[in-house]
Amino acid sequence: MKNDVAVLGLGSMGAALADALLAAGHRVTVWNRTAARADGLVERGAHRADSVSEAVAAAELVIVCILDYADVGTLLEQQAGEALAGRVVVNVTNGSPEDGRAMAARVAALGAEYLDGGIMAVPALIGRPEAFVLYSGSTKAFEAHRGTLDSFARSHYLGEDPGLAPLNDLALLSGMYGMFGGFLHAAALVRSAGGSVAEFTTTLLVPWLHAMSGALPAMAAQTDSGEYATTGSNLAMQVSHDALGEVSRDQGVSPELWEPIHSLMTRRVADGHGDEDVASVVELLHRR
Ligand SMILES: NC(=O)c1ccc[n+]([C@@H]2O[C@H](COP(=O)([O-])OP(=O)(O)OC[C@H]3O[C@@H](n4cnc5c(N)ncnc54)[C@H](OP(=O)(O)O)[C@@H]3O)[C@@H](O)[C@H]2O)c1
Repeated sequence: MKNDVAVLGLGSMGAALADALLAAGHRVTVWNRTAARADGLVERGAHRADSVSEAVAAAELVIVCILDYADVGTLLEQQAGEALAGRVVVNVTNGSPEDGRAMAARVAALGAEYLDGGIMAVPALIGRPEAFVLYSGSTKAFEAHRGTLDSFARSHYLGEDPGLAPLNDLALLSGMYGMFGGFLHAAALVRSAGGSVAEFTTTLLVPWLHAMSGALPAMAAQTDSGEYATTGSNLAMQVSHDALGEVSRDQGVSPELWEPIHSLMTRRVADGHGDEDVASVVELLHRR
């Protein structure tokens, strides 16, 4: 039999999660601060709770998806209170690793188990194969409810430390923004020469980034081992001539997205590591 699940917070993401649970055949109880936002879900089969404590009492598994982490604690302590005892709280509201650890302690004090979650999807992708959700916190809770959590997206469990899901969520966003930054600079260069950014992106940039992403596992192994012996494109060669900066300026394109990584590579060479691969720059960001 399918678990009963409560969803607190029915914004764009909370509503998508509740819909995915309904589609998977769960009995879903929903609560939202602005009650009217639950109407559509109720029409699609969810049960409406008039209070947080009523929602929490209806289900062992409680999903929390509101805007701000600071409000999650207030919601659980002041509005759910004793009803939380014996429940599992899965908080997918975005926060920091410290937020996650502090929330785990507050939820434990209310007698419940805690999982922190990081949703790597937009609402439209919930329930689709490309979406995944990071979880950290109680292993026991994750193992007991994994089948239900898989209704949202692939579940990826990272460990007992509740801070791991928010940390890895932010690390993934960092990778994404790095790629977006590269795209923006590339697009500005192509546009400065009158080219079509759309054509450049489809025919050249996407295949190039796809090919270059194949280098990441080897770079990651170097980062884990601290051994950065070059595999063919050492740092000294890469910064010997700042063609990217110079051409950008010549073309009237601001080099400000390129300058931070260029300056780190140059510093690493000045520190005597010119014969190493680009992965060795991580030593300037975080000393092992
Ligand atoms: N949307 C995305 O693409 C996405 C992706 C990954 C993660 N997330 C995360 O998911 C969480 C929710 O995002 P969303 O897109 O669903 O936001 P949203 O559409 O703006 O909805 C915000 C929700 O939070 C509720 N809320 C705000 N303050 C509250 C309070 N003090 N007490 C109780 N409820 C409160 C709102 O209730 P009312 O209806 O009463 O205002 C609403 O249900 C955020 O932490 C976000 O970072 C979102």
